[in-house]
Amino acid sequence: MKARIACLPGDGIGPEVLREARRVLEVIGGEHNHEFEFVEADIGAIAIERHGEPFPKSTQEVCLTSTAVFLGAVGDPKYDSRPPAEKPERGLLDLRRLLGNYANLRPVTVLEALVDSSPLRRDTVRGVDLLIVRELLGGIYFGLPRGIEDGNAFNTEIYSRDEVRRVARAAFKLARHRRRQVTSVDKANVLETSVLWRETCTEVAKQFPDVSFQNMYVDNCAMQLIAKPQQFDVILTNNMFGDILSDEASMLAGSLGLLPSASIGGKIGLYEPVHGSAPDIAGKGIANPLGAISSAAMLLEHSLELSREATKLERAIVKVLSRGYRTPDLKSRTGREKSKERIVSTKEMGELICDYIRMPDAT
Ligand code: NAD
Ligand code: IPM
Ligand code: MN
Repeated sequence: MKARIACLPGDGIGPEVLREARRVLEVIGGEHNHEFEFVEADIGAIAIERHGEPFPKSTQEVCLTSTAVFLGAVGDPKYDSRPPAEKPERGLLDLRRLLGNYANLRPVTVLEALVDSSPLRRDTVRGVDLLIVRELLGGIYFGLPRGIEDGNAFNTEIYSRDEVRRVARAAFKLARHRRRQVTSVDKANVLETSVLWRETCTEVAKQFPDVSFQNMYVDNCAMQLIAKPQQFDVILTNNMFGDILSDEASMLAGSLGLLPSASIGGKIGLYEPVHGSAPDIAGKGIANPLGAISSAAMLLEHSLELSREATKLERAIVKVLSRGYRTPDLKSRTGREKSKERIVSTKEMGELICDYIRMPDAT
């Protein structure tokens, strides 16, 4: 098949991890005779430097004429003192809105090879396989009015019934391909937006009688994720809570650097690792590229409908990790697996995945 993939490396470790993920896609394309065309464009701090804005028209054009958009990360401490509207992160929010991707899928899977990379006990995390479905285009991220006036700062959390309904439906449909269990997470004991969220999700749940459903408060959910993470299948939540809970949940798997995401709902899917530009490790060649590489698997699955290739890529990740290869963030926290561990760079990790995909018996 033919596909045009917009690559937006962005800032910090964004270009480092995206380079490896793109290489993996090239190898998969080559092995299976697909014609993947990659078009690079600027977003974030690099775009502010080169074009004077974080999401220039030229980048919008590239995205809108592609089959899928693949992003590294945005953000640079240089802009820490700027108002939100002038930060590199604004570019990413505008991109999500332009593409209309209201459902952000953030799977968290604990691989057997990595049970000792989590700071939690192996019995607590073993077998965890959950999916956070985060509403991506609404809530306090986009609500108006917002601003700072006369020494007061304000943001608006706002949701319409339609906005909640569409992401809830997406979550229930996804649950049907999993363990058929949805937990909606909100703060309905305090916030009106959460009352509407809860009412709407409970209503949608009635249309999916084959899927079990429960509501949970977000503070409890934050605790349950650490105490009994195996109880969760699909977690459905709003923009802000989803952002926070997904970083928390990443430590079940072992590192934030592992987590992929897919943003769907619009015509063109957006794929990005969950982590940010990690200025503390940028330029050192030690960033974990597996979150970006797993996002490539999600791109194959959701935008290109190449399930076989996506599965092959996921298997390659499992294989390489089972053989003990680790970026430094994945170092074992118990002595148990230490002797098997082989610490590799970002680039070496990318190459190991490519090597495995090229093996004749890789399926
Ligand atoms: P971050 O996700 O960049 O980093 C948090 C911690 O995790 C750091 O210690 C970092 O070294 C580590 N980490 C992250 N990704 C890693 C990887 N692949 N391999 C190994 N370690 C990894 O969050 P932050 O430091 O709070 O934010 C830095 C910048 O990134 C900010 O400007 C923020 O707004 C931005 N950000 C962007 C995105 C995005 O582009 N989607 C997401 C989150 C944060
Ligand atoms: C994420 C990031 C973004 C968000 C920021 C950079 C705008 O934290 O993708 O998780 O809050 O959505
Ligand atoms: Mn985040």
